[in-house]
Amino acid sequence: MMDWLELERACLSCQKCALADTRHNVVFGVGARDAEVMFIGEGPGENEDLQGEPFVGRAGKLLDDMLELIDLDRTKNVYIANIVKCRPPQNRDPLNTEQDACIGYLRNQVALIRPKIIVCLGRIAAMRLIKPDFKISKEHGQWFEKAGVHMTAILHPAAILRDPRRRPETFEDLKKLQAKIREVCTHTY
Ligand code: URA
Ligand code: SF4
Repeated sequence: MMDWLELERACLSCQKCALADTRHNVVFGVGARDAEVMFIGEGPGENEDLQGEPFVGRAGKLLDDMLELIDLDRTKNVYIANIVKCRPPQNRDPLNTEQDACIGYLRNQVALIRPKIIVCLGRIAAMRLIKPDFKISKEHGQWFEKAGVHMTAILHPAAILRDPRRRPETFEDLKKLQAKIREVCTHTY
């Protein structure tokens, strides 16, 4: 396992998959390195690739609003990262081979942070981190436990932007997340 300095250096110079050839910036992750709650998306989009920070576009603004609703803040008490750290061209889903090449960095981040709770943002992250046959429409908001970590998935903010009728179910999921944080976290609130 690498320490933070070593890990960030390795990511920023990584050439382990073809996404390295088209990226502008590696999107390492953002937030509190002592966070008890981690949020994991699938991979950087255009804005993230240009700025080097996860969730900074329109979906990112919605994510920040969702976090604020339950007193979370990317600058204070959560950590945000992605399954792949470089942007897939035209925002296509990251290939399994690309996920395989990159996931070790995320696993190293999880090992350093040792979160109590991991929240997957959307289907791709949930299939990779919770179970391969995860059905996001049916199983969002449900809780799973893996190696002592409480895991759940909520709809990807970009999916909510595409279909605002799905906001209420996400609001319910966020309230359940808030309750879980109160139950298992000691310094998030
Ligand atoms: N969508 C993601 O899954 N991750 C980001 O960082 C931005 C948009
Ligand atoms: Fe390396 Fe991950 Fe970027 Fe591929 S996506 S080049 S594995 S950092």
